[in-house]
Amino acid sequence: MTLGAPTTEPLLFTPLALRAVTLRNRIVISPMGQGSAVDGRLTDWHFAHLAKFAVGGAGVVFVEDTAVRPEGRRNHGSSGLWSDDHVPPLARIAAFLKAHGATPAIQLGHTGRKASVKRGWEGFLPLDEADLARGERPWPTVSSSALAPGAGYQVPRALSTAEIADIVAAWAAAARRAEAAGCEAIEIHGAHGYLIHQFLSPLVNARTDAYGGPRERRMRFALEVAEAVRAAWPAAKPLFFRVSAIDGPPGGWGLADTVALARELKRLGVDVIDCSSGGLGRSVVLDQGRLAPGYQVPYAEAVRREAGIATMAVGLILDPLQAEAILARGQADLVAIARQALDDPHWPAHAAAALGCPDPYALHPVQYGHWLRLRARQLDPARVRGAADG
Ligand SMILES: Cc1cc2nc3c(=O)[nH]c(=O)nc-3n(C[C@H](O)[C@H](O)[C@H](O)COP(=O)(O)O)c2cc1C
Repeated sequence: MTLGAPTTEPLLFTPLALRAVTLRNRIVISPMGQGSAVDGRLTDWHFAHLAKFAVGGAGVVFVEDTAVRPEGRRNHGSSGLWSDDHVPPLARIAAFLKAHGATPAIQLGHTGRKASVKRGWEGFLPLDEADLARGERPWPTVSSSALAPGAGYQVPRALSTAEIADIVAAWAAAARRAEAAGCEAIEIHGAHGYLIHQFLSPLVNARTDAYGGPRERRMRFALEVAEAVRAAWPAAKPLFFRVSAIDGPPGGWGLADTVALARELKRLGVDVIDCSSGGLGRSVVLDQGRLAPGYQVPYAEAVRREAGIATMAVGLILDPLQAEAILARGQADLVAIARQALDDPHWPAHAAAALGCPDPYALHPVQYGHWLRLRARQLDPARVRGAADG
């Protein structure tokens, strides 16, 4: 780690109060499905995967997309919170994250028609004979409408209104379990072509009832989920909502739709809009060829400005100066990193050093911080200030 010149407190390391929860900094570890749960239960893999981000100094650590119902899992290794059996391993992780200064958070979702496929590193392809031989059988999928996500994939069953109400209730029940497990923030997964997005987008939602047709009706399921989770989740704890700000293909959900949705979500007590994109039809990003760092930041900026709500930027945020600039320009209130955290779990502490924080090692638990601070002092006593050693 190289230590930069001291400056005023960088925005990235300014705490943020959301309701009664204060985040120690603005760096969020974005949810990352590990395909490694067993019957929805988190395992030691998840503990190791997530614990190191708290050790690395992140403000918030999100547990991956966690299914509120078994049929809502993406694959056999997806995590779940549809039963009380799922609470203890989550509670163990949440306690560790909190004990080491990170806000423990969880994303709650339902993948709808994108469920029942292989794991991510196998390309999310349809399950086949090899999976069956391992005992991993496909299960029937559901969606807003009976439209398959692609050639070779299952055709989902369109949910009835009674089934929609059951899923809304399942989201609330999962929120109560997240509270029992000690989580301090929830994110509703409304993005990436999953169930909520399958209602929002006119590319997929072909319903003619109260949940389909004009935008207000396509938003109804999303708003019902947000309202139910807000009611089940303590008023003192923040609620995030992840959107795909734009679908990409012509005729799809667009930024003006996202702003309208964000205004309604704010009214219902959602605190932060997490601005991702794509997930239905052809990928927006692949159509653009090579991706630029921060390619989704303009969505967070527009939603923040137009809907007057806090936003989180995500997507190829790689560099501390880039992250700081996003906050300094008022484009977002939080920055989320996913793959950069896999590459460098101590990215927050490294960012603190790069931005000139006087004691970046204070972000680490003392078991690491003490020794790294000592090493820095040995290398260059003048550059490390204000740190108590022992
Ligand atoms: C292994 C992996 C798993 C992911 N799982 C989820 C998930 O569970 N929920 C979600 O909303 N996004 C998921 N994502 C997307 C990330 O949260 C993030 O939005 C995306 O990777 C872009 O950020 P990055 O460029 O910092 O990686 C996943 C990404 C990766 C790499």
